[in-house]
Amino acid sequence: MTIDVERARRETPGCQHVTHLDNAGSSLPTQPVLDAVVGHLELEARIGGYEAHERNEAAIERFYGATAALIGAQPEEIAFVSSATRAWDMAFYSFRFDPGDRILTSVADYISNYLAFIQAAERTGAEVVTVPNDEHGQVSVERLRELVDARVKLIAITHVPTNGGLVNPVSEIGAIAREAGVPYLVDACQSAGQLPLDVDEIGCDALSATGRKFLRGPRGTGFLYVRRTLLERLEPPLVDMRAAEWVAPDRYELRPDGRRFEEWEQDYAGKAGLARAIDYALEWDVGAIWSRVRALGERLREQLAELPGITIRDVGAERCAIVTFDVAGVPARQIKEALARDAINVTVSPTTSAVIESIERDLPDLVRASPHYYNTEEETERLVESVRIAARC
Ligand SMILES: Cc1ncc(COP(=O)(O)O)c(C=O)c1O
Repeated sequence: MTIDVERARRETPGCQHVTHLDNAGSSLPTQPVLDAVVGHLELEARIGGYEAHERNEAAIERFYGATAALIGAQPEEIAFVSSATRAWDMAFYSFRFDPGDRILTSVADYISNYLAFIQAAERTGAEVVTVPNDEHGQVSVERLRELVDARVKLIAITHVPTNGGLVNPVSEIGAIAREAGVPYLVDACQSAGQLPLDVDEIGCDALSATGRKFLRGPRGTGFLYVRRTLLERLEPPLVDMRAAEWVAPDRYELRPDGRRFEEWEQDYAGKAGLARAIDYALEWDVGAIWSRVRALGERLREQLAELPGITIRDVGAERCAIVTFDVAGVPARQIKEALARDAINVTVSPTTSAVIESIERDLPDLVRASPHYYNTEEETERLVESVRIAARC
């Protein structure tokens, strides 16, 4: 299947106003997503919040089936949460670590994941081990294999890091985790909606993602997947009356499904919107989305690389739609502001978002452009032209 870009743009109201090349930040939602969110909010305003939930239950509950279909899971293995960070935290903080235990992770793992690793290490005496990269700049599968031993209690890897086009070899890592019987947590925040995900093929036990990026859902939404076989052994770090039943004055029983990781109060408009966004992505076919965004990313890199003073910073054997670069002598923020004056949205990936990698690779703050399937080749050319002019200032 190929993407009908014209149709995708017609169904994306923001295309009339901006050249949005910040889909790794927060994408432009589609009209169907907007309708799902606004429709639910209007219903809440008309008949009451709890009543609107009951009336719109099918659209809201669809979230579980749609998410499961997206990642090859069961609906009972899914939790709705407010962000990828909350999803990842609910899984990570469910694991118990003792002094001397090890957590294996990647050089470019997400900033908030690293903050949690550092906190867990300080609290428990566990050790965080950063698996070195290979010659392509991705997690070295060989080094990871050598590092797996009885001390390793968790492998936690970011699939597509926030600060570049890298796609980590999550399935090869999953095969090692399975063989060793070590739980495996994947941060799929930037890959969900951009490339096909299958939790069995990846071999992960838990996977977290956000709604607003390549899935094109509303802000303030995300999901967590936890494999059935692990679910009932993981006690969530926070429990409320959504997660558990109060069965005796001094006792509660946790739900047996993924909803044990949820909060009782939820953004139901957002949940209905995310369900619609995921179904919309499935209707296009995520494989077709991946072919288009990968090609747009590669083309953009080639065109930017031809400009004097531009250095492309993306690494990896496989690269995605996230394109990062810097301009000699011009701060990334200045480039972003110049592009914004031309109604082109990009963002800045600061060195502080990936401290270890920035030090290892001596990276400056980077400009990050991230096309999606609804972007056109003319739009990426406009970006290149704007960068060319901004780079001369
Ligand atoms: C790789 C990665 N993981 C996690 C997150 C956090 O997502 P959220 O802001 O939804 O918590 C981001 C956000 O940019 C990200 O790029």
